[in-house]
Amino acid sequence: MKNATFAPRFEIKGRAKDMGTKKLYIETYGCQMNVNDTEVIFSILADEGYERTENMDQADVILANTCSVRDNAEQRIWGRIDVFRQQKKARPDVVVGIVGCMAERLKDALLDSRKVDLVAGPDAYRTLPQLLRDVAPDRPQINVLLSHEETYGDIRPVRIDKNGVSAFISIMRGCNNVCSYCVVPYTRGAERSRDPKTIVREACEVFQAGYKEVTLLGQNVDSYYWKDADDTVVDFADLLEQVALISPQLRVRYSTSHPKDISDKLIETMGRHENICRSIHLPVQSGSDAMLVKMRRRYTRAWYLDRVAKIRSVMPDCAISTDIIAGFCGETEQDHQDTLSIMREVGYDAAFMFQYSERPGTLAARNYPDDVPPEVKTRRLNEIIALQNELSFESNRRDVGKVFRILVEGPSKRNAAELCGRNSAGKMCVFPDTEHRAGDYLDVRVLSCTSATLICQLA
Ligand code: 5AD
Ligand code: SF4
Repeated sequence: MKNATFAPRFEIKGRAKDMGTKKLYIETYGCQMNVNDTEVIFSILADEGYERTENMDQADVILANTCSVRDNAEQRIWGRIDVFRQQKKARPDVVVGIVGCMAERLKDALLDSRKVDLVAGPDAYRTLPQLLRDVAPDRPQINVLLSHEETYGDIRPVRIDKNGVSAFISIMRGCNNVCSYCVVPYTRGAERSRDPKTIVREACEVFQAGYKEVTLLGQNVDSYYWKDADDTVVDFADLLEQVALISPQLRVRYSTSHPKDISDKLIETMGRHENICRSIHLPVQSGSDAMLVKMRRRYTRAWYLDRVAKIRSVMPDCAISTDIIAGFCGETEQDHQDTLSIMREVGYDAAFMFQYSERPGTLAARNYPDDVPPEVKTRRLNEIIALQNELSFESNRRDVGKVFRILVEGPSKRNAAELCGRNSAGKMCVFPDTEHRAGDYLDVRVLSCTSATLICQLA
């Protein structure tokens, strides 16, 4: 795709001005990928004359970009749909739509609820303008077709972040792994990689627009693969290097790695570039080999620990974070202890921790009973959270006295006389200062810490 075919990016300009401006409100749930998808939707609908609003009361179209990964995520959306319905009572012309993973999972069942006017899956966003043109009170619209090609590679997302410092860039969509507990392969479809030229161009553009950090996103970035017409192959390590070379002033992050696929080449590429952040999200899910087999993760505890050792040998200062599921099917007390022990062994800097939530249609739902009682799941999760709090505090305590280069994100949440920003490892640093601004790089010295924050002063 040529440059000229791109629509303007950092402002919403409607081609269809004569249609009058319609206002679009989107609530986003779930992962960073969904945040980026919302930016893609704003871009597609900006070209149709839709203007973004953050005020639901003014919206002509209300969309929820949804997540299906756990049942409580979906329950929350049902609650929001009832709130959207009240808007419709007051203003019957308002269109209420569900897009994203829950739209894909529930399909017609969402329309059957008679609570929404529009349902669009993650690969159907280009058809939103048509769906919105066709929608009428007795004519709800749905498109949940999944695609093997769609990457939205030519679309320039309209950035919705507040600080203008850090941008997400999707590099691939879908997932081919089929971990037994996970609904994502069904809601986001097969894995496909985006043309690296469009990725590098997007990263250059955000840098030129003043952004200082990009996060490359994919369900499993290590299986990124692109083969050009001339047979040149670009893997994730190559892509990461191309983005890192844009400028030493541009920080590069990425998420998510799969432990079975994270390669020595990738780790060594990170080690060669200071502006590739020293932070790897490496979801372990469980420390028990028996659970890992049942989860269909396709690595063992020993393999995982070997990958951690490789990361530490190349980048001793690299933070490692993880995802953990408590109470998966058949999990014994010993399996749970194995999870606690791998957490200690790795010494995670941060973790996202969940109770297992059975998702209809997944391999686990079909093959294994969800047999860990809810109170046991809760107790195990609480033990995991308590341990992680200790580990995060330990990790932060080791940083006291060190000096870090941080990228300022803006004023700290608690105190207007303080700024906050992250170091390369992704740790949040707060320090007294009102002089500098979002986007500045500064050196700070760590004075003390909590389990969540490094308390610093300018170095
Ligand atoms: N139940 C609980 N947690 C889940 N995750 C994915 N599916 C489920 C599920 N059914 C978690 C995994 C994954 C993260 C994004 O969400 O830990 O890494
Ligand atoms: Fe789900 Fe596994 Fe794919 Fe992650 S890698 S999205 S957990 S199937």
